[in-house]
Amino acid sequence: MHYPHVVSLINLKGGVGKTTLCVNLAYGLAFFHNLRVLLIDLDPQANATQYLISQQSYRSIYLGAGATKKTIVDVYTESREGDLALSRKPLADPSQFIQRVYTGRDGSLDLLASKLELSLIGFQEGHGHMNDQVRWFIEQVGENYDYVLIDCPPTVSRMLMAAFEASQSFVVPVKPEFLSTIGIPLLDQVLKGLYEQKIARRAEYLPKSLKSIGVIYTMVNEQLNMTRESMDDLNKTAVNLGYPVFKSHISASTKYAWSSRQSLPVFRSEPRSKYAQEMAAVVEEFISKSR
Ligand SMILES: Nc1ncnc2c1ncn2[C@@H]1O[C@H](COP(=O)(O)OP(=O)(O)OP(=O)(O)O)[C@@H](O)[C@H]1O
Ligand SMILES: [Mg+2]
Repeated sequence: MHYPHVVSLINLKGGVGKTTLCVNLAYGLAFFHNLRVLLIDLDPQANATQYLISQQSYRSIYLGAGATKKTIVDVYTESREGDLALSRKPLADPSQFIQRVYTGRDGSLDLLASKLELSLIGFQEGHGHMNDQVRWFIEQVGENYDYVLIDCPPTVSRMLMAAFEASQSFVVPVKPEFLSTIGIPLLDQVLKGLYEQKIARRAEYLPKSLKSIGVIYTMVNEQLNMTRESMDDLNKTAVNLGYPVFKSHISASTKYAWSSRQSLPVFRSEPRSKYAQEMAAVVEEFISKSR
């Protein structure tokens, strides 16, 4: 069985540009490097889904009686039988869950969409205790992909635990500001806690811990002294925790919100801008650091 490289984008702080980076990074791996990529939207806010798919298409593809595709919520409901992955039946047709959003020469970007009902998972009967539903899904579609990127919600939740179970590594998108220097050690503590729980459960499957690919700074405004000072502080914090820090970063710009309105990554909506170049650099560094 081919299990692809699965990377979660995690930060417990909200609104720091996680989803924007996740979508652009996933798209960039397919667009610039001809890789086969799946983006899993594991946030009930469904922002990554709504970035990549217009409101109108979202409604017709995923909502209501005429829906043609299934979402991550169906992954949970259809894996209700038993808690152990091994006791579950495989999905009859995993392609019902996959929506193609970009096709290149060899590379492609697919989406496993989310919707609001994901927030109820864990409060209802029968969703199991193992948090391995996402891993179970990836095992069934993994041979089609080089990378799977998971966009996580900014909460300690069942979704974060499922992302932890499914991933080999993680990226921390960080907005350089004072409160982030507190946030990264907290995140590290949470991930270590999840690892301890996993040992306590004697979970069988690998990996037993997550590798940190690194911190990627988002919404950077280099004109501000405060931003530069925060980056200096954060670099020290990251080094102490053993998290590499990316040399390339994402600048603060309204172009990113503009790109999301067009359902495009910044390098397609603004191909000649400096933002296209910086995103290409982030994608390149991600590949070299994730190897
Ligand atoms: N580099 C950037 N510069 C300026 N604005 C940005 C940048 N990246 C994202 N934004 C904008 O900031 C807002 C939050 O971004 P995004 O949804 O990516 O953050 P998030 O960390 O995923 O949020 P949440 O914690 O709610 O999931 C959006 O309106 C987005 O368009
Ligand atoms: Mg988000």
